[in-house]
Amino acid sequence: MQVTTDRDRTPFGRVDEALLAALRNAVGADHVHADAERRSDYGHDETEDLRHPPEVVVRPDTTEQIARVMRICHDHDVPVTPIGGRTGLSGGALCIHGGVGLALDRMTRIVEIDERNLQVIVEPGVITQVLQEAVAAKGLYYPPDPSSRGSCTIGGNLAENAGGPRAVKYGVTRDFVLNLQVVLPDGSVIWTGANTLKNSTGYDLTRLVVGSEGTLCVITRAVLRLVPLPQGSRLMLVPFNSATRACEAVSAVFRAGVTPSALEFMERDAIDWTLRFVDDVRVEVADAVAAHLLIEVDGNDPDAMMKDLEKVLQAIETYDPGEILFAESSAEKEALWKLRRRVAEAVKGNSIYKEEDTVVPRFELPRLLEGVKSIGAKYGFQSVCYGHAGDGNLHVNIIRGELDERTWKEELPKAIREIFTLTVSLGGTLSGEHGIGLVQRPYMDIAFNEVQLDLMRRIKQVFDPRGIMNPGKLLP
Ligand code: LAC
Ligand code: ZN
Repeated sequence: MQVTTDRDRTPFGRVDEALLAALRNAVGADHVHADAERRSDYGHDETEDLRHPPEVVVRPDTTEQIARVMRICHDHDVPVTPIGGRTGLSGGALCIHGGVGLALDRMTRIVEIDERNLQVIVEPGVITQVLQEAVAAKGLYYPPDPSSRGSCTIGGNLAENAGGPRAVKYGVTRDFVLNLQVVLPDGSVIWTGANTLKNSTGYDLTRLVVGSEGTLCVITRAVLRLVPLPQGSRLMLVPFNSATRACEAVSAVFRAGVTPSALEFMERDAIDWTLRFVDDVRVEVADAVAAHLLIEVDGNDPDAMMKDLEKVLQAIETYDPGEILFAESSAEKEALWKLRRRVAEAVKGNSIYKEEDTVVPRFELPRLLEGVKSIGAKYGFQSVCYGHAGDGNLHVNIIRGELDERTWKEELPKAIREIFTLTVSLGGTLSGEHGIGLVQRPYMDIAFNEVQLDLMRRIKQVFDPRGIMNPGKLLP
């Protein structure tokens, strides 16, 4: 029997006065917003120019309130879409079926920093950078570090299994999660695991929930692992006259026995557009430069970091790097990181674009980049590529530019299909860190066959038999 999770054909319950009254009763009238302005505020993330407002925004403050909201929506058969910082790039928080937009932005408590166990307990609305700074003040480090860290939330990071530049050495969000408190669609509250570093006890519900994009349950609390804060870092920007050569250099660094704390790739356009977009960072880029690698090593021992740096330099020498820029002061490091972090915004400021979050085993990165460019040439689109090269994770930004409506709507999906087919043929997959959400959903069949998809649909059904949790996402 094939399981279906698609509610498109069976209408959901209505957001009517009775539902609104019940929601007001559950969270307080001040935190239920059905006005056009609030709905529009919560009706988008950073995905393209998409707008899908909820019919009502509900802003609970406690797990108990969320449980009440879920019970009400479960009884009324109304969809619920959890909403974090609205910085997502796959449309995971868009309320495509209307219903309740469950905004978690009042749940911003860092409940406890446990310095004895190097753990922290947080609510989902905590801004990632706020958490990083709070633990850094105690000499601790939370490495997952999306570019949007100043406005994205831990809940959103958990939902999408966010990564960022430091994942290459430390791991992605999922690797830092020990235990989650979640509310199931019927309002039950459970913990998914234990606050232990090791756990061989039963199915790993914690890892299942991370990356499930709000389609299974609502995360209301997370116990996260921390590591000691590294005392220092060295950062350099390395230009290459060939983007392919830059990509080839990436795997050589690891083969030389170094694990950098970041190894980022930026195509020429990415750096040029961003230099124009941020007015307080200046970097000289020679005419012939086609791409850069931004390479960081961190640690506590300056001599060891120097040795690592030397090994990196030796490893990349074969690939014809240009004149390397070493960031000498923390201000210079910050400037280079600012340049890297703001690429997505700079690209968006330039043109509407579609963003693909391709990921391959890192040795295949040059093949992926070249393939993307030749698919671009075939379909006539420009792409700006950058990303976490050390992880084989290439963000492919397809620029709308002058493309007409028909090409954008009808031809582009074919091109994207070719890009993903290539990605999978190289041993990779559709998304490294942005999730499937709404916009990558039509391509899931490239990564998974019907047996695999059916298994996922069954999992979804077990958690959410009525299909009210963030419907229309992730599963095709
Ligand atoms: C970045 C985001 C877009 O790497 O993932 O900047
Ligand atoms: Zn990224």
